[in-house]
Amino acid sequence: MGADLSARAVGVRELMDDPDADPQTLERTYRRFGAVNAVVSRPGALYREDIRPRARTGPVRILDVGAGGGDLCRALAARLARDGLRGEVTALDADERATAWAAAHDGGAGATYRCALVADLVRAGEAYDIVLSNHVLHHLDAAELQDILADTARLAGSAGLVVHRDIARSRTAYALFALGTWPFAGNLLAGSFIRADGLTSIRRSYTAAELTAVAPPGWIVRRGVPSRLELRREPGR
Ligand SMILES: C[S@@+](CC[C@H](N)C(=O)[O-])C[C@H]1O[C@@H](n2cnc3c(N)ncnc32)[C@H](O)[C@@H]1O
Repeated sequence: MGADLSARAVGVRELMDDPDADPQTLERTYRRFGAVNAVVSRPGALYREDIRPRARTGPVRILDVGAGGGDLCRALAARLARDGLRGEVTALDADERATAWAAAHDGGAGATYRCALVADLVRAGEAYDIVLSNHVLHHLDAAELQDILADTARLAGSAGLVVHRDIARSRTAYALFALGTWPFAGNLLAGSFIRADGLTSIRRSYTAAELTAVAPPGWIVRRGVPSRLELRREPGR
């Protein structure tokens, strides 16, 4: 737990981003994302606060950028179905390994899986009511961050909502993740990149002040729990 968290560790790469990553370890990582995200990413809160109120006014088109194993998409699609609300959920990832695994594990959720860049969807003239991402911002360099913000804003248009959700870098977040995952390192998380990459993710992540400093006009940063950040562009901005 002696990691230097005074600045973003942008030079440290996550193991799952290695094109030569062991396929079985990568597959176990995608498989375990759901359990980890259920605790740290709180998809239920996202659904209740940002998605359900909009879906109650009519069918919603939702895009999850950098969807990884697609667990967030499956969770949102299941909640819409449970509430009798209509929506289309698209899981987008630039990594073909992720979209292939996610598509093969849709489990009846009915999400759409696309391997492409956000810019490709902009060029194709796509539009969404809600564009979101989870744990993607910390992967990006400064130019990529600005590009993804501009492109997701274009996809949402003036009436849509954009919510990029990520970890807030802090000593507490690092210690909690290290301690909270330690009992599972030899069982639930064994043979996956979750623990190592989770710790790297926290080191690469922004603080609220850092994200606010790079946010373009019209975007706001919200803090959440546990050690969470949201970079949001509300409709009409
Ligand atoms: C740490 S994973 C997060 C996956 C998932 N959102 C979650 O919360 O578990 C980050 C994912 O973002 C994808 N990614 C990174 N940059 C991207 C970009 N510019 N466009 C689309 N996907 C991207 C990576 O391929 C990777 O699958």
